Amino acid sequence: MQVSPPQFSFLRSLLKKKTGVVIDDSKHYLVVARLLPIVKKRKLPSLDTLIDRVRTAGDSALEQDVLNAMMTHETSFFRDRSPFETLKNLIPEYVSKRAATKQLTIWSAACSTGQEPYSIALLLNEHFRDLVTTWRIRIIATDISDVVLTRCREGIYSEIEIVRGLPRSLLTKYFTAFQGKWSIAQSCRRLVEFRQLNLTGQWPVMPPCDIIFLRNVLLYFDEQTRGDILKRMQKALRPDGSLFLGGAETMLGINAHYERLAGEGCSFYRPTP
Ligand SMILES: C[S@@+](CC[C@H](N)C(=O)[O-])C[C@H]1O[C@@H](n2cnc3c(N)ncnc32)[C@H](O)[C@@H]1O
Repeated sequence: MQVSPPQFSFLRSLLKKKTGVVIDDSKHYLVVARLLPIVKKRKLPSLDTLIDRVRTAGDSALEQDVLNAMMTHETSFFRDRSPFETLKNLIPEYVSKRAATKQLTIWSAACSTGQEPYSIALLLNEHFRDLVTTWRIRIIATDISDVVLTRCREGIYSEIEIVRGLPRSLLTKYFTAFQGKWSIAQSCRRLVEFRQLNLTGQWPVMPPCDIIFLRNVLLYFDEQTRGDILKRMQKALRPDGSLFLGGAETMLGINAHYERLAGEGCSFYRPTP
């Protein structure tokens, strides 16, 4: 099955309009591969029927399924390791800066299926036990996709997802076996709040954040959208807050006001006044 150039162009515009995600012509094959399971699941006669329904029938659930399938949700526990090492080194600084309020707010924006915010919760439980038990720690994890957020809230991961990045010592300490998979401990779950949030849409009110993980999502947007989001992130961060981007993401060419600092094998950013 194939999608015609006008159909591809329709899908591409829909994705850009609703999510900000930009795909180029080389992703033609990928779109077909990702939409075919929906054709099968919905028992539709063809890909043409699926696209026609999205275009004309106003079926918002189907549209959501299509948008969700076209986005990349790739993630893993402690992805790229160095941002988490850097975070571990930064926490003591925030502990002394926030000693009066005993509150720390961390935002995992575009959290996919939850491995990123749960990695932060695991790190805090493992290395800052006192903080976790005596401070108000909030890890706010957001994504545009309700499908991935459902998985986040379940907090259950397959063996394949576990072996991609989770040290065995943390598995035995913070997960229990559940129907052939692994369920994350309450000590981690209770730190994380999940919310739906479209980075290119209206944001709900967010508390001022000490640390923001905005990783591996900007690369799917065009330069204008990246710049807009980075400016809004500046307002979401406290003046001495820290922002982490993905390994392939930079602020180059973007007119946002951040200072780049060296972390443990990666960079992170602080807003400049
Ligand atoms: C590749 S994953 C990154 C997950 C995680 N941050 C990491 O680095 O492993 C990208 C995520 O961005 C989400 N996303 C795409 N467009 C978005 C938007 N406009 N607003 C919020 N999330 C979005 C997708 O649903 C997907 O889960």
